[in-house]
Amino acid sequence: MADSPKSLGVSAELHAYLVAHGSPPDAVLERLAADTSAMGQIARMQIAPEQGALLTMLARLVGARLIVEVGTFTGYSSVCLARGLAEGGRMICCDVSTEYTDRAVQAWQEAGLSDRIDLRIAPGAETLRALPHDPPIDLAFIDADKSGYATYYEEIITRMRAGGLIAVDNVLWGGSIIDMTDTSRDTVALRAFNDMVLADERVDVVMLPVADGLTLCRKK
Ligand SMILES: C[S@@+](CC[C@H](N)C(=O)[O-])C[C@H]1O[C@@H](n2cnc3c(N)ncnc32)[C@H](O)[C@@H]1O
Repeated sequence: MADSPKSLGVSAELHAYLVAHGSPPDAVLERLAADTSAMGQIARMQIAPEQGALLTMLARLVGARLIVEVGTFTGYSSVCLARGLAEGGRMICCDVSTEYTDRAVQAWQEAGLSDRIDLRIAPGAETLRALPHDPPIDLAFIDADKSGYATYYEEIITRMRAGGLIAVDNVLWGGSIIDMTDTSRDTVALRAFNDMVLADERVDVVMLPVADGLTLCRKK
């Protein structure tokens, strides 16, 4: 059985089963996934549906009042995260592309979330460095350029409350993470990032085989 294109080591059939047995994507997310899919190969950047359900649940579990996302693309993860915000909470989305995020803006309107999401178009590091330390970040999702992960993590963790959570996508990188013959820039950056997080005493860490690998870091 062939692997699901969105879930490492999981067959397409098993993936369909597990998606069908979690909270399902609604009409907004289904429309967004279909429209993004029509963009071609680039659609692979979108998170998997079970990750979306997980992000909504994580936001609710931490009682998120401030969420920061680095890497918004056409908006799937941001819709899922913003839906988990506590009453009165808000979300800051960082991306460099208006071409992609125009689609996200449309999805936020459709989902009735525009009033709580603030889109910042600039390199993620710049946006994060300009954020105040108060109010603290409750939840962050890192899913942008892989060579920037370490910088995003550091800028976020210093602005995060104790008990806050950073979720990091693509940490298994299609399995290349353990293929030492792969020395491409992104793979090397992700390997260094995974090692750095493991050694960071400020957090508890778990790496999950969800989609392309998802690391959760809880600030102590
Ligand atoms: C993997 S996609 C994000 C997918 C998104 N989370 C979703 O659920 O659809 C990566 C995004 O990071 C953005 N990006 C690339 N370099 C960036 C940077 N330096 N700062 C902020 N965003 C960046 C890209 O424009 C792209 O939209």
